[in-house]
Amino acid sequence: MDLLDRIIENAKKQGKKIVLPEGLEERTLKAADIVLQEGIAQIILLGDPAEIHKLAKEKSLRNIEKATIVNPKFHEKKEHYIDLMVELRKNKGLTREEASQLIENPLYLATLMIKNGDADGEVAGAMNATGDVLRPAFQFVKTKPGISVVSGAFIMILKDKEFGHEGIMVFADCAVHPNPTDKELAEIAVTTAYTTRAIVGIEPKVAMLSFSTKGSARHEMCDKVIQATRIAQSMDPNLQIDGELQADAAIIPSIGKSKAPQSAIAGYANVLIFPTLEAGNIAYKLVQRLAHAEAIGPVLQGMAAPINDLSRGCSVSDIVNLIAITANQAAGL
Ligand code: ACO
Repeated sequence: MDLLDRIIENAKKQGKKIVLPEGLEERTLKAADIVLQEGIAQIILLGDPAEIHKLAKEKSLRNIEKATIVNPKFHEKKEHYIDLMVELRKNKGLTREEASQLIENPLYLATLMIKNGDADGEVAGAMNATGDVLRPAFQFVKTKPGISVVSGAFIMILKDKEFGHEGIMVFADCAVHPNPTDKELAEIAVTTAYTTRAIVGIEPKVAMLSFSTKGSARHEMCDKVIQATRIAQSMDPNLQIDGELQADAAIIPSIGKSKAPQSAIAGYANVLIFPTLEAGNIAYKLVQRLAHAEAIGPVLQGMAAPINDLSRGCSVSDIVNLIAITANQAAGL
């Protein structure tokens, strides 16, 4: 069974409730129909029920009748969620009037449903920018205890099975945090290692990437990666993490052996941690296009509950896969 099939089969056993704020977006509705037909998750769609039913009928999406549909303007928990928003943001001075407007925005409503225990996870972003999906999540769902930064990992499935674990590698951060500090970079490494164990089911071998291998170059940007490596190793001494390594030393055994002979990771890394979002985002897109790799994600990590962001160019199957991944995360797999 390949990785995606395993993720989907695991999701089916969990019956998690996934909220889709973009209930009137056509690809999202088609994905919801497939998820409901195959029993991958329970689905909550946000939007005007009459319009959702009309679109479902036009597109012959018969399984949508199994979804729970919540109208952001009128629903029984609206006042309760407004109270919760004001309470959670009282230090930031959120007023009742502001909360009453925000709660009608499906991206905010979805995060309040999660916070209140009415949904287990969220997938959005087919028609909203990353920042608009993430901001309400940061404000109301927040990070896991002990973690201060949310980041985005991509599971890269390579055609060349010599790299990583039989062609599977995990890259991060490719989606969220533009310029992490050394401590934040360490958190990104540790959370990516846990994502790799949980979603991919392999033991992570984490390389902290730089333009220097073990002191070959001297620059404050390399110092950040060296320090982040130390912090990450101390955050969880049971994880295999090493750096600073150049990309070739991280993934090619002969180069790893010559540039970093003492390293158990050099040459055999299956998790690559990039020093900035620029590097990570550019790298995953180049590998996806030039090496024709499948890029699954971004899988958001570090959040107190799973909320995942789609690319606006996503396909229906991308949405189905991300719903299955979100259900796995919600089950703590
Ligand atoms: N993790 C956890 N919390 C965060 C993070 C983070 N990475 N970033 C911001 N926050 C929190 C802040 O602490 C703050 O919380 P508070 O209001 O309780 O104090 C809140 O979020 C807002 O913080 P701002 O600094 O004002 O964040 P802003 O809204 O300006 O930006 C954002 C956050 C939108 C995620 C920004 O970092 C961003 O645009 N990142 C790049 C996203 C992107 O475009 N990615 C590339 C495309 S994705 C792709 O190609 C797959």
